[in-house]
Amino acid sequence: MTSKTKIAVFASGSGSNFAALEQACKQQELNAEIVLLVTDRPNALVVERAEKAGIPVAAFRPKDFDTKEQYEEAVLSALRESGTEWLILAGYMRLIGSTLLTAYPSRIVNIHPSLLPSFPGKDAIGQAVAHGVKVTGVTVHFVDEGMDTGPIIAQQAVEVVDGDIDQTAEAIHAVEHELFKSTLQMLFNR
Ligand code: GRF
Repeated sequence: MTSKTKIAVFASGSGSNFAALEQACKQQELNAEIVLLVTDRPNALVVERAEKAGIPVAAFRPKDFDTKEQYEEAVLSALRESGTEWLILAGYMRLIGSTLLTAYPSRIVNIHPSLLPSFPGKDAIGQAVAHGVKVTGVTVHFVDEGMDTGPIIAQQAVEVVDGDIDQTAEAIHAVEHELFKSTLQMLFNR
């Protein structure tokens, strides 16, 4: 087996995708090692999950820095120290800037809970339900400077459940956890 790809997961929230990736690495379904959790919200639930799993955490508050470049330079130092090869965005609620895009060209991947280019940005599931679509889904894509605009790698459709946000979100998250794992495995094996 080839050596494990070193990944940093970026997350700002509850971290169910982080947990799914962590399990996949542990069970060797994903030939990767999470060497760092990067968060812009030190109190997020995902931090607790990382600590329990024994994964190092880099938590920086953007407002403690004068510029986005300085914030990303701090993140970049932590990434380099950890030997990170790929950046995996899993609910990271912030646009990636030129500092990180330049340091990791074509090595930054995001997961988004809609069939892009429909419903980019925040609350994609709420947007889909409000719009009355019958089918939404999950997209895994490379990250560029835009909001959910980079080249699409994989997508899977999910039916909207009874026009209900919570039930639809549950179905989407279940698909996310599988699709993220299989798509990353495909990318790391190339
Ligand atoms: C996921 O729906 C992901 O697609 C989006 O943010 C959400 C994060 O959920 N980018 P979780 O924190 O992984 O549970």
